[in-house]
Amino acid sequence: MTTPKTAGFATRAIHHGYNPADHQGALVPPVYMTSTFAFPTAEYGGQCFAGEAPGYIYTRIANPTLNLLEQRLAVLEGGEAAVAFASGMGAVTATLWSLLQPGDEIIVDETLYGCTYAFLHHGIGRFGVQVRHIDLTRPELLKEAMGPHTRMVYFETPANPNMRMVDIAAISQIAHDGQALVVVDNTYCSPYLQQPLQLGADVSLHSATKYLGGHGDLTAGIVICNAELAQRIRLVGLKDMTGAVMSPQDAYLILRGLKTLALRMERHCDNAEKMAALLAAHPAVEQVYYPGLPGFPQRELAARQMRRAGGMIAFELKGGEAAGRRFINALQMVTCAVSLGDAETLAQHPASMTHSTYTPEERAQHFISEGLIRLSAGLEDAEDILADLEQALDQLR
Ligand SMILES: Cc1ncc(COP(=O)(O)O)c(C=O)c1O
Repeated sequence: MTTPKTAGFATRAIHHGYNPADHQGALVPPVYMTSTFAFPTAEYGGQCFAGEAPGYIYTRIANPTLNLLEQRLAVLEGGEAAVAFASGMGAVTATLWSLLQPGDEIIVDETLYGCTYAFLHHGIGRFGVQVRHIDLTRPELLKEAMGPHTRMVYFETPANPNMRMVDIAAISQIAHDGQALVVVDNTYCSPYLQQPLQLGADVSLHSATKYLGGHGDLTAGIVICNAELAQRIRLVGLKDMTGAVMSPQDAYLILRGLKTLALRMERHCDNAEKMAALLAAHPAVEQVYYPGLPGFPQRELAARQMRRAGGMIAFELKGGEAAGRRFINALQMVTCAVSLGDAETLAQHPASMTHSTYTPEERAQHFISEGLIRLSAGLEDAEDILADLEQALDQLR
């Protein structure tokens, strides 16, 4: 069923787009584990391919389980349509392959997730697309940088891994004045904390591997935008250029994850707030980057465009990289692993892990320090997470 516009976030995350009465009363949507769909006649099949009849054709193009997930995520972000992918990188690459061509320029923020950075510099950059980094935390720099070939402005906010924040409304206005599309990687927030399309962006995308799935048991991606862009991304980036289609089984798991997204995000935020406060007060810690902390330079922007400060924290220790390794190795319950948004609290070292796709010189240029540690607050009892962080920090004295 289509939920009314007045329905709250959790209600829509649980109900939108599905009516048990249409599926023999099944409370939980059936999973269409099929790669292809039977046509009643050869003529009808031909009409489906020509876009003249509405039927499903083949799961790489569309599938009812994926379609339900797409509808639900579109409504949660305030978009018209969505396209599901096999991974976040599938979503990122398909979007750029679909919307850019040789001779176009893409302006990106200084800090990006490691594989997005690698795709821009070693992937699409090799095919005639100019990639330019601008410090998008300062919108006035974008105004100066926009040129006749600038077709897209792309960023993460908060950025992975250093938590730099970009003003989505201000950047969208400048980009649109220059006829460029704005694409926001919203992975760190999930639609519960931030809705870029409502602030003026054209495309919001996610690694659904993270908060949307929420349980660390799948890889997936999603792109949310208007119907026209979604159709281009589906028929070019998904169908032909990447083939990175999500499995219906993973779509089912994400639909299940979405039912608790609001609850989980509140708990991730509660735990992260306490973790950031503990880190900020500890003598072994040099600097903490968390949008909810009083000293965070972009705290006002965070309050304006995010519902709460989120579940991700970055910090530096007084002894730099060596101290960081000792800290991670001293953790007992908090797990050393990449990824984020899982039930388990995770710790990792971006310079040698998620952002090792940058050279050390590139990391220095892009504000990613060698000693930075990234934490993803999990859903455990806060006291247990805090006790583990504290005992590991105390060992550094
Ligand atoms: C901000 C961000 N975007 C995109 C991705 C890529 O997603 P995936 O690993 O699902 O391909 C990640 C993965 O860590 C990420 O953190």
